[in-house]
Amino acid sequence: MTIRLGDTAPDFTAETTEGAINFHEWIGNGWAILFSHPKDFTPVCTTELGYLAGKKAEFDKRNVKIIGLSVDPVDDHKKWAADIEETQGHALNYPLIADADRKVSDLYGMIHPNADDTLTVRSVFVIGADKKVKLMITYPASTGRNFDEILRVIDSLQLTANHSVATPVNWKHGEDVIIVPALSDEDAKGKFPKGWDAVKPYLRITPQPNL
Ligand code: BEZ
Repeated sequence: MTIRLGDTAPDFTAETTEGAINFHEWIGNGWAILFSHPKDFTPVCTTELGYLAGKKAEFDKRNVKIIGLSVDPVDDHKKWAADIEETQGHALNYPLIADADRKVSDLYGMIHPNADDTLTVRSVFVIGADKKVKLMITYPASTGRNFDEILRVIDSLQLTANHSVATPVNWKHGEDVIIVPALSDEDAKGKFPKGWDAVKPYLRITPQPNL
């Protein structure tokens, strides 16, 4: 199954380190990030999962739940968690799916056979409160992800969802944003009381609206 942006995130039930879940019920009314890692007890994954545990408060602030996945069993996830805490200084504080039968990996296309036919690649899916897929990124096994970049994209996605704005190249929270071209100047007047700088009729820059 190929997942594309805007699709409803496929639902599933799975075993996790925090018990059995139904994915959509687990997400609830907020946002979620579902990510896969290739294998437990591997170095890059150890650094990634520890870092993400340290950043969980930032995801909480944005109402984004975190869930990881690999094809390893729950017992391995739990044993490895001790290593993550010991070496990275952060205990796992989000569930890991044990996808030994690859049900979820296949559903989300997380196994790329020409890269590795048994292990998941480093997939990231950001899922909105409407259960639609908002972002998909795939990294190879050898490259640890930049979860600060994922937070940056979530900030942009949530601004778009709530304020009819898009974000320019390399934008970061607090910087000016772009009024979406679909909004007429007339309608923009009510939404953006601070006004905007019309560099071109289609390029209207305004201060970030939710500050
Ligand atoms: C790692 O996490 O270090 C890793 C996992 C699978 C393949 C290569 C690296």
